[in-house]
Amino acid sequence: MLPNIEYSLSYSAPTGIERDALSALALNPDARWHERMDHALFVVTALHEGIRVGLGIVHNSVTAPTQAPRPMELGGMFVHPAYRRLGIRQYMAESRLTYALSMGGTPITVIDNRNQASWGYYERSSRWAREREYTGYFTGLPMTIWVSTESSWHRTGMGLTPLVPAQPNTVLPQGLNRAEPLGFGPDQGNPVPA
Ligand SMILES: CC(C)(COP(=O)(O)OP(=O)(O)OC[C@H]1O[C@@H](n2cnc3c(N)ncnc32)[C@H](O)[C@@H]1OP(=O)(O)O)[C@@H](O)C(=O)NCCC(=O)NCCS
Repeated sequence: MLPNIEYSLSYSAPTGIERDALSALALNPDARWHERMDHALFVVTALHEGIRVGLGIVHNSVTAPTQAPRPMELGGMFVHPAYRRLGIRQYMAESRLTYALSMGGTPITVIDNRNQASWGYYERSSRWAREREYTGYFTGLPMTIWVSTESSWHRTGMGLTPLVPAQPNTVLPQGLNRAEPLGFGPDQGNPVPA
């Protein structure tokens, strides 16, 4: 039986029982996780039969040493192990990026270099470029800041013209805002956090 995944969007920091439910889903809801949630500007949640199975946020509590102006960090990404490899991250990542670009910030994301599930995704995508590597404050291990190739900062740095002026509203990516029947995937665990 294939799960029917639905998505909900929110434009404010989760509080109360919503924060509790998202905390229960997250891999490691530590103090830093809550700090990011406190500064969430956009939250996308994946639901299966009303149960939260995926989460991604855009926040402005940026601690990574990015050079990007007005950085908006795409973080807090987590998909329940039973629902991985179904494209849920793909959907949530696209909607986060659309939001951050539409708000006129510079979308960045920070990846632990050991995180194969994320590294491969960003490395293959033409929508992201490496900004710089640094040593993680908490892990002491290599982390990489990725920047959106569609951001004005990246484009002007490459000698290109900015794409479009900032738009006030988010429009979900074409073809992605419909709930589709999806199959359970084989990836049942990824122990390396961002
Ligand atoms: C990383 C994570 C969010 C991916 O979620 P997901 O919904 O399974 O990802 P998707 O199904 O959208 O994957 C899209 C593509 O990413 C790549 N990918 C996803 N998981 C992968 C894995 N474990 N190993 C290698 N590539 C992987 C694949 O190319 C995949 O496409 P495919 O399934 O057609 O091969 C999920 O594994 C997770 O929650 N991990 C724990 C927390 C975490 O690492 N968060 C990210 C921090 S930056």
